[in-house]
Amino acid sequence: MNKISDELRQTLIEAALTARQRAYIPYSRFPVGAAVVADDGTVFSGCNVENASFGLTNCAERTAVFTAIAAGRSRFLALAVATEGGYSPCGACRQVLAEFCDDLPILIVDTGLAGQVDELSLADLLPRRFARRQSDGR
Ligand code: THU
Repeated sequence: MNKISDELRQTLIEAALTARQRAYIPYSRFPVGAAVVADDGTVFSGCNVENASFGLTNCAERTAVFTAIAAGRSRFLALAVATEGGYSPCGACRQVLAEFCDDLPILIVDTGLAGQVDELSLADLLPRRFARRQSDGR
């Protein structure tokens, strides 16, 4: 799995925390912030964006990934996600991340525990993912 510098790790965490403050959450009141770093070092952040038609809600992780893709970056070194409670990405977000990387360190930030950070791996979170590529996980 990728290893990122302590400095980049901190930048990524701060980007996720800042994005969390921009969450559009009139329904759940549960803010989530995420940030991915691309292989050229650019950081893209995202927040959850809810909708009155609940199923249209976009998670913070997917907002960050889609923003990166729209900017022409699709190779990622790491992702950070910030929530109160230190939750890990949902299944849909895991699958979207797996579209672009075999494995990826995922930094889980718990804003409720003074920003405590746990590190997980995408491959551990989504074993045998659905992937129709040479590097698929069958
Ligand atoms: N949410 C995320 O942003 N990321 C996840 O991985 C799981 C859930 C959001 C969706 C919704 O706005 C709120 O958290 C409560 O489910």
